[in-house]
Amino acid sequence: MTQGKNKKIVLAILVIILLVEVVFLAKKMTTDRKATDMLKAAEEEQVMITKAVDQLKKTSLESYVADNTIKDQVTKTKKSVDENKTMLENLTHISGEMKKQKSDLITQYDNDSKAIDAMNKKITISKEIATTFDKDPFKGNSLEKGLSVSKVMSEADEKKMSENINSLPKDEQRATLEVAYKDIASQTKTIHTAQSELDKYMNKDDIKEVPSTEEFEKLVAQVDEIKNPEVKKPLMNRTQILRKEIQKEHPDELVDNRKLVALTFDDGPNDGSSVQILDTLKKHDVKATFFVLGNMVENYPDTLKRIADEGHEIGNHSYDHSDLSTLDQASVKKQIDVTNDAVEKITGKRPTMLRPPYGAYNETVTNATDMDIALWNVDTLDWQSRNSDAILGQVKAQPFTQAVVLMHDIHDTSADALENVILYYKDQGYTFVPASELIGQI
Ligand code: NI
Repeated sequence: MTQGKNKKIVLAILVIILLVEVVFLAKKMTTDRKATDMLKAAEEEQVMITKAVDQLKKTSLESYVADNTIKDQVTKTKKSVDENKTMLENLTHISGEMKKQKSDLITQYDNDSKAIDAMNKKITISKEIATTFDKDPFKGNSLEKGLSVSKVMSEADEKKMSENINSLPKDEQRATLEVAYKDIASQTKTIHTAQSELDKYMNKDDIKEVPSTEEFEKLVAQVDEIKNPEVKKPLMNRTQILRKEIQKEHPDELVDNRKLVALTFDDGPNDGSSVQILDTLKKHDVKATFFVLGNMVENYPDTLKRIADEGHEIGNHSYDHSDLSTLDQASVKKQIDVTNDAVEKITGKRPTMLRPPYGAYNETVTNATDMDIALWNVDTLDWQSRNSDAILGQVKAQPFTQAVVLMHDIHDTSADALENVILYYKDQGYTFVPASELIGQI
């Protein structure tokens, strides 16, 4: 009887153990099945993410700068990588084979995270570099040549940019960013050096100390190294103040014997001779200055855009070629402002130079604006002769060391003459400069 009872108890215990095991097993099977589903879903998602990351990796630096949607895509991809990784990390109590699968996936997500971080950095650096230069610096993944900086970076920002570039994986894009950075750093140094040298002698435009002739020439050479005309111009103006001060005491010294020429074209833009002139300038890698009429700008915005895009300087030549010296101040102001507005709307930059039609201006004009008046000293008389050989003849007959040449981009004969004019000045050893560099010097 007792034995029978014991047997029953043992049996009952065994049954209970069995039941518990069955429950455990069932639970484990459910967990495993759930885990299998999760891993499968994660693997499918991984394929999509890999594709997205690859596609983003192939995107060019140029697109990073131009396309804001890329930044959103990168952020979205990064978010799904992080979410999937967290989900997998929370997956516990799974069997051996699945553990391996899980850890492989996590490694893959870590690599994606790193790639996305690098892309984010590239996007930020590309945009910083783009705003530092005077035009979009990238074509695909390579850098445009001969660009100048228009925004002077602080030393701290520069250092940070260098560190960020160095932390990127070594690839074609990083190499391009390195080249761009080096160019920015070297141009920035030139600007900072010239500025701090000038500050030694001047407090803004007031002279603190007059430099010796030698010191002055060194200073001018430093300013001359600055590539961007807009950054250079205020510094040039300051050196001119010093030059005049030195010349007061030593009138024979400091004669500026650099051969400089500014080619200027009035009365455009249009879609005929202006375009031919742009082609010729491009062929010979020469930058010029265009004094444009507001009404022509409104009619030919594409040509104006091209003038700006190709690095030429743009000045104001009134709205409709009125003789400003015959107008009242309000009318003068209107002629100037409407034209400046039209140029700024297309190029993003407001002209700072005014060439009054016929070179005619009076006090009413100068009171109406604080723009620099930009005249010329070599008159090609191209509007009169309408003859390419005669134009070149006029150029040769007026051999100024610093020449501002007046031509008009409304005559085909002027456009035809340009090539020989360029070749002549090159042959004579001249450097081509924007007209703003010669203001107050001719
Ligand atoms: Ni004119």
